[in-house]
Amino acid sequence: MIRIEPMRLTDIPRCAELELVLFPEDDPWHEIAFQSELAGAHNRYIVARDDDGRMVGYAGIALLGNLEYPEAEIHTIGVDPQCQGLGIGTALVKALLAEAGRRGGPVFLEVRIDNVAAIALYEKHGFHIIGLRKNYYQPSGADAYTMRRPAMTGFPQPQDTEVFS
Ligand SMILES: CC(C)(COP(=O)(O)OP(=O)(O)OC[C@H]1O[C@@H](n2cnc3c(N)ncnc32)[C@H](O)[C@@H]1OP(=O)(O)O)[C@@H](O)C(=O)NCCC(=O)NCCS
Repeated sequence: MIRIEPMRLTDIPRCAELELVLFPEDDPWHEIAFQSELAGAHNRYIVARDDDGRMVGYAGIALLGNLEYPEAEIHTIGVDPQCQGLGIGTALVKALLAEAGRRGGPVFLEVRIDNVAAIALYEKHGFHIIGLRKNYYQPSGADAYTMRRPAMTGFPQPQDTEVFS
């Protein structure tokens, strides 16, 4: 069983290790980037752990705007290549959307236009392509789609995504 939990500082080395594998062409985040993200007051970072407590996925979201006009932005999501296709990405996205849903508002993200798996995952969770950002990723120069999930009711609740506190 996979558990979704808040990311800890001790998870950061493994996150940076996975980044190198998952985003080799696009300036993978180093440990310092995760440390900075984790320290951000408006950011929420989570990990997926297997039965042995091994971290097999991670994701983060920024809660932006204000109470009247909230919005959120998914900053990253990654699953260990050996564990992909097992529903872990889905569990991570649901947990992020549950977090955003506490305040409401739309959720945005950027995704490489050739990232078929991620685009399919996001579309399954209500995201639509709303724009194209040329040369968004560096150093590859790959383009990105901006995707948006409108504000909606009926967000998945934490209990639907295993453990998330
Ligand atoms: C995108 C990613 C997080 C998905 O994680 P995952 O654990 O494999 O996803 P799931 O098993 O929950 O699959 C959810 C859905 O994603 C889509 N998907 C996953 N792998 C896919 C693939 N190889 N091809 C097409 N669609 C795929 C499917 O719609 C799938 O739903 P289905 O199983 O009902 O068909 C994972 O592929 C990954 O880490 N990729 C590298 C990092 C990355 O690109 N992150 C996104 C940056 S924007």
